[in-house]
Amino acid sequence: MNTMQENTKTPVHVSIIMDGNGRWARERGLERVRGHYEGIDSVRACTEAAVECGVKYLSLYAFSEENWNRPQAEVDTLMSLMVKCMENELPTFHKNNIRFVVLGNRSRLNGELNRVIDHCMEETASYDRLTLIVFLSYSGRWDILQAARKLALDIAADPSLAERLEQRDLSERLVTAGIPDPDLIIRTSGEQRISNYLLWQGAYSEFFFTSVLWPDFRKDEFRKALEEYSKRDRRYGKVK
Ligand code: FPP
Repeated sequence: MNTMQENTKTPVHVSIIMDGNGRWARERGLERVRGHYEGIDSVRACTEAAVECGVKYLSLYAFSEENWNRPQAEVDTLMSLMVKCMENELPTFHKNNIRFVVLGNRSRLNGELNRVIDHCMEETASYDRLTLIVFLSYSGRWDILQAARKLALDIAADPSLAERLEQRDLSERLVTAGIPDPDLIIRTSGEQRISNYLLWQGAYSEFFFTSVLWPDFRKDEFRKALEEYSKRDRRYGKVK
């Protein structure tokens, strides 16, 4: 097993905006969906690489709230792909001690997908080698809004909370409560933007942009991003 050198700085939480499946397929004269199928192999490769490198949390932006506006046929294909992928990968999660978590606006997901998600999450809840998080029907602003709604209700019940409010009070109401903020956010396919992803949680994240399309982003590319991260000087606004 290929592990990173002990003296390099390994990020605890790596997050990936998986982009470029459609372009990968178009370049080959294939239907967009073929890019998504191929992208599943990249998910598997990066999960393996994350375990090998000692990363504790790997999160993937698989479907944004905005993605619901794609053609219905593509949305349906992506949803059934998620179901199949989770069913297929469950034995691997068991074998490799991987906790599987889905975060996002689950009320918009269909019953079958929600049942498979519940099953995978319950079965793997006690595992701790790697936590694999899939963001589904997620957007950063949606997350902040749903946390603000919870806060508003809690303040209505206890108005003194408004006076004592701290950043932690909002963090604890985000869907990512309990998960460390991402140290490194990778975006594939050459786009250099956050696209309504982890807006609050990514406040101090390092960014790694690569022109490699998601279906081509495999173990070597993942290791390259970690190598680059290990050279960054994180100051959190302070002077060293
Ligand atoms: C972005 O490429 C990719 C997506 C919106 C879907 C990614 C989802 C998967 C690979 C399935 C993952 C499944 C699990 C269970 C983790 P794009 O379609 O936006 O590509 P384009 O920008 O080239 O059009």
